Amino acid sequence: MRISIDKAIQLIKERDVVAAPTETVYGLAASIEHPEAIQKIFTLKNRPTNNPLITHLANIDQVKAFVDHLPKDFHRLAEAFWPGALTLVIPVLEDAVPDIIRANLRSAAFRVPSHPLVQKLITGVGPIVMPSANLSGKPSSTIAEHVEHDFGEDFPILDGGSCETGIESTVLIADGEVWKVGRLGGISPKQIEKVLGYWPEMPSTQVIENPLCPGQMYRHYAPNARLHFDTYIPEYCPVVIGFSERDYPPNKTLKVLGSIKDPQSVARRLYHTFRKLDEEGVTDAWIDMDFPVNDLWASIRERIVKAASK
Ligand code: TXA
Ligand code: MG
Repeated sequence: MRISIDKAIQLIKERDVVAAPTETVYGLAASIEHPEAIQKIFTLKNRPTNNPLITHLANIDQVKAFVDHLPKDFHRLAEAFWPGALTLVIPVLEDAVPDIIRANLRSAAFRVPSHPLVQKLITGVGPIVMPSANLSGKPSSTIAEHVEHDFGEDFPILDGGSCETGIESTVLIADGEVWKVGRLGGISPKQIEKVLGYWPEMPSTQVIENPLCPGQMYRHYAPNARLHFDTYIPEYCPVVIGFSERDYPPNKTLKVLGSIKDPQSVARRLYHTFRKLDEEGVTDAWIDMDFPVNDLWASIRERIVKAASK
């Protein structure tokens, strides 16, 4: 159900949950002051309770209510990338951020999103938590129809069109004096290096039990279809996911991700393409991984590898 911004503000104030657009992906929003609404988000998504949530703010100043001091370089990062696709995880005053939001950790995650509708929402109701608006483990939603598919036609959705970035925010975690990447995303390590003066430590590519970002423990972004990226296209894959400039065997159904010259176009279509596979009942698809390893491409690769993992 599409709702107006006024209705979204009203529902959140009434301790309910609504879906809202951001520049990265759609989120499920509840006020940080309403634990029962936050619990409802975990239930709706079927999300493990040890996976903490990001608190979304209207501006940098609002972070002051949650901390007694801010880590080194916090302001440089926030001023460079907020509003935008960067999440900063910092130590907080535990009484200021409910346990359920930070999964009992001593730190909490914050982001100032840039989408004008979500900005209006936060200005109207105060800080909100917003995990991605998808069932846990499945691809995130980048248009209102995706949210409707996962949560039903009656679910209240603030429709903000198609998300500009198309993949989630980069999560940076303060570890003493330095910042480490917990999750790759819309802002690249190279952009971060320009602000920090050093390359932030990257997340392990191994499956580990205690990752910096608890969410990284779980299978993610995954369609029902099995994704393959062997060097050669297996015969049993009827579908090929690739780039507009390239030729693929004519006996395969081609799904175009975007242009090899434009990673932004690819990020924007990634989840859409994964969701299309399920809509069409595809069981096996081959995906062309012959693309660069740097910048936004690294985030795209990480999403594909996670989505393909068993
Ligand atoms: O782009 C985004 O970040 C979207 C939009 C809606 O803002 N939100 C999003 O939320 O992707 P979610 O819940 O799907 O992913 C949040 C990630 C998870 O991997 C979680 O483990 C991590 O952030 N995270 C949250 N709080 C944390 C904390 N205190 N310490 C470490 N990681 C944290
Ligand atoms: Mg998510």
